[in-house]
Amino acid sequence: MASVTGLEGIVAAETELSFVDGEKGLLIYRGHEAKELALQTSFEEAAYLLWNGKLPGDEELIHFRAQWKAHRVLPAALKAIIDQLPAKSDMMSVLRTAISAEGAADGTSRAWPPQPEAALRYTAMLSVIIAYRYRQTEGLPPVEPHPELDHVANYLYMLTGKLPKQAHVKALTTYFILAMEHGMNASTFAGRVVLSTQSDMASALCASIGAMKGPLHGGAPSEVVHMLDEIETKERAEMWLRQQLSSGQRLMGFGHRIYKTFDPRAEALRIITTGLAAEDPWFELATLVESVAVNLLHEFKPGRKLYTNVEFYAAAVLRAVSMPKTLFTPTFTAARMVGWTAHLLEQASCNRIFRPQSVYVGTIPG
Ligand code: ACO
Repeated sequence: MASVTGLEGIVAAETELSFVDGEKGLLIYRGHEAKELALQTSFEEAAYLLWNGKLPGDEELIHFRAQWKAHRVLPAALKAIIDQLPAKSDMMSVLRTAISAEGAADGTSRAWPPQPEAALRYTAMLSVIIAYRYRQTEGLPPVEPHPELDHVANYLYMLTGKLPKQAHVKALTTYFILAMEHGMNASTFAGRVVLSTQSDMASALCASIGAMKGPLHGGAPSEVVHMLDEIETKERAEMWLRQQLSSGQRLMGFGHRIYKTFDPRAEALRIITTGLAAEDPWFELATLVESVAVNLLHEFKPGRKLYTNVEFYAAAVLRAVSMPKTLFTPTFTAARMVGWTAHLLEQASCNRIFRPQSVYVGTIPG
């Protein structure tokens, strides 16, 4: 049996986009600490930084915001394709299909290299697709984009049809910025591999969305809510967690390939959620579960350095802003579109096709 490495420790690319120091719990986007950006800038400014290498000046930001808003309209042909998908389709499959369809329709499917405009267009569009499809499956009429609202506020508005509370916009913006980029994770790598064949941006994004869907990656936050729903009360927490670990199950929202200390994103999200949901009994339960789980993980997996990851507090923030559970992973995807597309543009700028090797461990005839 081959030893399974999961490419741990393998350097697959040089990047100027982000730096993760797993031992110190540090996350940097193009020279800026992500935590600071998350608390101090808008999502548009942080996205501009990743795509362009610098924060925008006042005039640049006005122009960029206007461009972004112009891309919020879904073509009628795309809506028709989304409308035909069965009601039982999960949202991540809908997003993968929609981006694929848009890539086929927009005439750029053979374009090389990918253009920055496409990064903005797909990013602006994805949240609109989520809102359009969500309201459709809920039997609600679609909501048009709000011309005055920026990306995150507009996302909440298009989901609910109501102007969002400022505290919710702030909390979700913090989450969007912290979730937008994270180095060579599985979904980013998947996209870069596809693009490295000189394929187009839509094809690469379909690969990224497919990778994001899995419960070991972007699928974890809704699993965190399931876990807390099952635990139900503070009194049951230790017994439930112990049972899971004794039977070899993983605890969702804990552990990370890179972070061997607290995930800095989880810490920033915890600060935001504490302000928003301190009175919510669910949040109180989450805080207790976190501390019990970290202690038990030390007991069951000594030396493994397993701590809370971003997904644990992502679940708390998303719940605090009343995001439906089915939209947790899609919302993560909406944020991560910025990082993915920035990586695709970077890959194109210094491209060499990915072609690793495998070690044959089967039999040789004769
Ligand atoms: N609960 C219990 N045990 C765990 C957990 C966990 N959450 N995570 C890792 N371990 C254990 C493993 O069982 C293994 O133990 P063993 O050596 O005794 O068999 C050891 O820790 C090392 O685990 P690996 O699988 O080698 O760690 P890897 O780096 O491959 O996995 C991952 C990272 C997938 C995130 C893992 O920690 C996990 O499955 N966590 C739960 C799912 C989750 O929260 N995913 C979101 C990650 S953040 C993101 O993708 C945005």
